[in-house]
This record gives sequence, structure tokens and C-alpha cells, in this order.
Amino acid sequence: MGMNEVIAGLDIGTSKVSIVVGEIGKGDGLQVTGVGTSLCTGMEKGMIVDMDNTSGAIASALKKAEYMSNKKIAGVYVNISSRHVRFVRSRGTVGIPGHDGVITHEHVYEVTEETKKPEMTPDSKILDILPVQYIVDGYGKIADPVGMEGSRLELEADVLVASTTIINTIERCVKNAGLEVKGLILEPLADASAVLTKDEMEQGCVLVNVGAGKTELGIFQKGLLKYVKYIPVGGDHISNDLSVGLNINFKLAEEIKRKYGLWDSDLDNDGTTDVSYLNYNQSYDADIDKQPYDIDIDRAREIMLARVQEMFAIIKHEIKGSGYGDNVGSRVVLTGGGLAMLQGAVQVGEEVLGQTPRIGKSKFIGATSPIYSLAVGLVKYIYENTYKRESSDFQGRVTGRRYRRRRSKKAPVFVNKIKQVLSDFF
Ligand SMILES: Nc1ncnc2c1ncn2[C@@H]1O[C@H](COP(=O)(O)OP(=O)(O)OP(=O)(O)O)[C@@H](O)[C@H]1O
Ligand SMILES: [Mg+2]
Repeated sequence: MGMNEVIAGLDIGTSKVSIVVGEIGKGDGLQVTGVGTSLCTGMEKGMIVDMDNTSGAIASALKKAEYMSNKKIAGVYVNISSRHVRFVRSRGTVGIPGHDGVITHEHVYEVTEETKKPEMTPDSKILDILPVQYIVDGYGKIADPVGMEGSRLELEADVLVASTTIINTIERCVKNAGLEVKGLILEPLADASAVLTKDEMEQGCVLVNVGAGKTELGIFQKGLLKYVKYIPVGGDHISNDLSVGLNINFKLAEEIKRKYGLWDSDLDNDGTTDVSYLNYNQSYDADIDKQPYDIDIDRAREIMLARVQEMFAIIKHEIKGSGYGDNVGSRVVLTGGGLAMLQGAVQVGEEVLGQTPRIGKSKFIGATSPIYSLAVGLVKYIYENTYKRESSDFQGRVTGRRYRRRRSKKAPVFVNKIKQVLSDFF
């Protein structure tokens, strides 16, 4: 393990793919040194529907990220939607040899392996193992048993599994772009690493990533992911409503949404505004798009507002339905571009939810936009769970679907950051 080890995250989204390059420096922890983005139409609602388009977009984002970071990227950690991931509660047990033997990282590794049961994986693969609690000689609720004395170590954990078909498609797409998939990370876990504060994770919060085609909702409490929900609605629905309602093409609707948002702008005296110049900067195919438009912005905002209100109402409904509403209702963190980037959306959220959502951004310069939170989070999640160095020489984290034994003193080790309690999943 040399210094300046590189971790790369690849977010395959409905509107774009992004690659973020992180480097682990000497004293100052993780730095983001490269970001590459490319528009992508090969992904829909968390499913790859066009492999060639997706691979092409990944290759082009990779080029940009490598150029900016001046690093050659061989492997990436990739997002996977909660739509595809199943949680299986499991238990493992190992005996600690000797009288009152001391529990080591190696025992933690062994007991984690024991939670993998063959019946979990007929047509699926294990993505990650999230510890709920360790139990030493019958005493439970232990977060980190290393260094404790005992004769029997148990682990209760949530094993994350996804279908082989879904995983293979992602892997093939990434491989066609010249990259190896080092691991697949559940979206809300990655987002949380990028944008949630320790307090929010501990005291409870709802993390909502509204993207272009979908919404991923994760509920955190006491540092654990308690609940996830995939919702098939995103920012594209706002643009689509606008396109249908104003009888304009989708690209122009998208431009109007981004430029005018839900309120405030310079309108002509008659309340309309000429948006033909918006077309000018884009290459639109239809001739009619080259004609000047007079768009009624008030009408456009009415249409957008109705959809945004509905989206927040769905989010509110899902929080309530999770059963965690009362405990975590005090904090909603919004990320992804679909609502967090839309001017005026926070105020609508406040009205509908009864509280002001916070916009979740990563702190890394060059990647602070909510549309990059997931790609940054993929890197940070791996950094926090695998690479942060401790006094031991053992890496026990399963992310990446394989454990590696490390003998070097400076090797990455298991850091039991996210302990899991997922009782009432889905
Ligand atoms: N300035 C803006 N104003 C309004 N909406 C915006 C703005 N910038 C981006 N968006 C919207 O954000 C969405 C894209 O967000 P994001 O990049 O998080 O999605 P994605 O990750 O590609 O998709 P998904 O997560 O659904 O697969 C699009 O719907 C886009 O219209
Ligand atoms: Mg996304």
C-alpha cells in the first residue's frame, strides 16, 4: 500500500454518469482530485436499458476524470439502486480458542464470513455485509468486539444481496468501458457518507436523493441505515409535465425548468418571455424549435409546482409509511439534482413536509453539487469503511464481494462505521 492510493466511484444515473477520483494523502485524509461527467441515456429507473450507450458514457467520463486527476483508473466502485437490493438478516458464530482468548480483527473477519449462507445466493450475489451487533459470550449490542476477551463471538448482520442478472449487466457495461467493478454500493449508504453529518446519522434523519428518473429514500438512526425505499419519480417528470402542458419538446422544457425554477426571473411586461435563445445554445432537431417562443412562465410554474408538491407529498407519505416518521421527522436532507437543484423547491418542501429540508452537498471543491453527492459518496464510503487505517493489519470489510487478507502494517482495515439494524425492511 503506497501513499496516495486512489479510490474511484462511478455513479451511473438516468441523466448522466459521473466518475469521482479520490486520493488518500499522507496526513490530510481523503482528497477529491478528479471529476468526470458524461450525459447518458442508457439507464432508466436504476436499470441499464442500453449497454452500448452506458459504456460509451462511462468511457468518456473516465477520460475526463483521468485527465483531471492525472491518474490511471483501473477499477471503480459503482452505485446500485435500492430497487435491486435485498436485505437478509443473518447470524454467524465462531469459537475463540484458548481460555478467555482475546478477540482479534481476524476473528471478526471469520465471524463475518459465517453470516454468508449458501441459500442466499442461488441466483444472486452478496454485495455487502452490514453488522447489526456483535455478541460476546451472550452479551450483545457490542459495536466493536476487537480486544475483548471471550470464548464465543457472534455477529448479527444484514447481508445485502442482488440478482446476478442485474450485477452482470452493470459489470459488463463497466468492463466494456475498460474498467473493473471493485464493488457495488447501495445508493443511500454512499449518499450518506457524502452529505450527512454525524449528528444527523445519530439522531435520525431522512436522506432523499431525487434524481432524474427515480428517488432513493434512506432513513438513518443511531448511525445505522434503518429503512430504504425506491420511488419511481424524479426531476424528469417535472420537465415532462412541462413539455406536455406547454406543448414544447422535452429539451426546451428542461431548459425552462433550470432557468426559471418555481419563481423569480425577469419577465416581459406581458408576463411572457422569449425563450428562443435557449434553443440556440443547444442542438435541437425539430425546425419549430428554431422559431421564437413566447412561453407563459406563470403557466409553466403552475405546472411545475403541481408536480413538485406531489413529489414532496409522496416523500412525506413514504416517511410516514416507514414507521420511523415520528423519530426522524425533524430532519430531511435532500440531494440529487431533481429537487435540490430546482429553484424554489425547498420552500415547497417546507410547506408540504412541515419543515425545511436541508440541501445535502459534499464538501469537496469541484464536486459540491447535489448531482455529485452519490459519486463522491461511493469514494467516501469505501474510504471510511475500508481504507481508514487503524492499529491492526486486517481488512474485514466485504464491500467488493471479496475479503483480502492484508499483512502489511499499513494495510486497510475494517472500520466498523455503519452498524446495521434493518428489521422492517421494504
Ligand atoms: N438547475 C436545475 N434546476 C432544476 N433541475 C435541475 C437543475 N439541474 C439539474 N436538474 C435536474 O436534476 C436531475 C438530474 O439529477 P441527478 O444528476 O441527481 O440524476 P441522475 O443521478 O442522473 O438520475 P437518477 O438518480 O434518477 O438515476 C434532472 O432531472 C435535471 O433536470
Ligand atoms: Mg442519481
